[in-house]
Amino acid sequence: MSRIVLGVSGGVAAYKAALLLRAFTEAGHDVRVVPTPGALHFVGAATFEALSGNPVTTDVWSDVPEVAHVRIGQTADLVVVAPATADLLARAAAGRADDLLTATLLTAHCPVVFVPAMHTEMWLHPATQDNVATLRRRGAVVLPPAVGRLTGPDSGPGRLPEPADIAALADVVLTSGAAVLAHDLAGRRVVISAGGTREPLDPVRYLGNRSSGKQGWALARVAAARGAEVVLVAANVELPAPFGVRVVPVGTAEELRSAMHAEAADADVVVMSAAVADFRPASVAGAKMKKDSAGEPDSVPLVRNPDILAELVTKRRPGQLVVGFAAETGDDDADVLTHARAKLARKGCDLLVVNDVSGGQVFGRADNAVAVLAADGASTEIGLGTKDTVAAGIWDVVAPRLEPATQA
Ligand code: CTP
Repeated sequence: MSRIVLGVSGGVAAYKAALLLRAFTEAGHDVRVVPTPGALHFVGAATFEALSGNPVTTDVWSDVPEVAHVRIGQTADLVVVAPATADLLARAAAGRADDLLTATLLTAHCPVVFVPAMHTEMWLHPATQDNVATLRRRGAVVLPPAVGRLTGPDSGPGRLPEPADIAALADVVLTSGAAVLAHDLAGRRVVISAGGTREPLDPVRYLGNRSSGKQGWALARVAAARGAEVVLVAANVELPAPFGVRVVPVGTAEELRSAMHAEAADADVVVMSAAVADFRPASVAGAKMKKDSAGEPDSVPLVRNPDILAELVTKRRPGQLVVGFAAETGDDDADVLTHARAKLARKGCDLLVVNDVSGGQVFGRADNAVAVLAADGASTEIGLGTKDTVAAGIWDVVAPRLEPATQA
């Protein structure tokens, strides 16, 4: 259990803070909500008190003997400000302490995550951008806002990311510190495949696999949080799109192949985390196949699918990094890492993320542990953690290997 301060400033997205609060308390955290006076125009203190089980005040004149304006920040493990309005970012950047939330921000020793939400013009204004740069320079995490429908009829960057995305990223910061969500992928284009392909036999049946897409989703979410422009080529994944990520849905290996070739052409990083079927039925029946009431079932002739990762490696543009995934088990011939080294060499990619799937681990699970092998011989172990924490570890390996950005 961690002590989380949930700061809420006065924007209409404050209503989503109640859902974020719920996600934190359901994960077992002790949450103290500190709204600004403006936030209480949108959501009442009673809502935050009932959901957190803790008192809610906005000013430094309540609870004076407890010296709340100092103690709340000092004793927190994490401060998340969601939504963070343009005004809140400005006051935090200026070091003001004119309400309980800004006083708390000045006394917090723990990681601080700002989740901006405001109208596009306010977000893009140089004043706001300077304030964001200042806060990031001081070590705070400032998530990029999601793009989409705003309060009025218009849309653009400025939406609050969904509470589930914020909660997952807050958990990464709690586990690994604020540096894992540094803005080090700004200006980078990242393409990630996720999920598992389905190869049709007839209009109702397919050959598929158990990949949930969760690791690819986490890679996309963390890359977007670190500033990248992310495209997720998603094979049969039902999860909601991570904030700021463009999802291209696909079904078969062939569809995934065309989407990856199109999207990878101008990417800085290409990640093949999808489980691609190695084979597909040689032909797809136009009508539902009927069982022959007499004898044994027919066998299904299969043909090989192209190796998309190997193709992407041959088309790699200068400076582009190609990352493969491998789910391996040890056998009588070799252990997991030996098989993985051989696969890295065979596929020709720059990095290979290796899952040890002995005993049915990983598929559909919320946590994961991997090793990242590099073509230059380096290897990094990323210990058991949530898929978002593992994703942050993978980007920690990838980011320093990128050529210096031209526009970051
Ligand atoms: N992959 C791919 N195209 C395929 C099969 C796999 O791009 N037709 C990619 C996967 O997305 C993954 C990597 O290749 O990044 C490793 O996949 P895996 O199936 O483990 O490798 P295989 O080459 O099929 O090796 P194995 O002999 O272990 O099946």
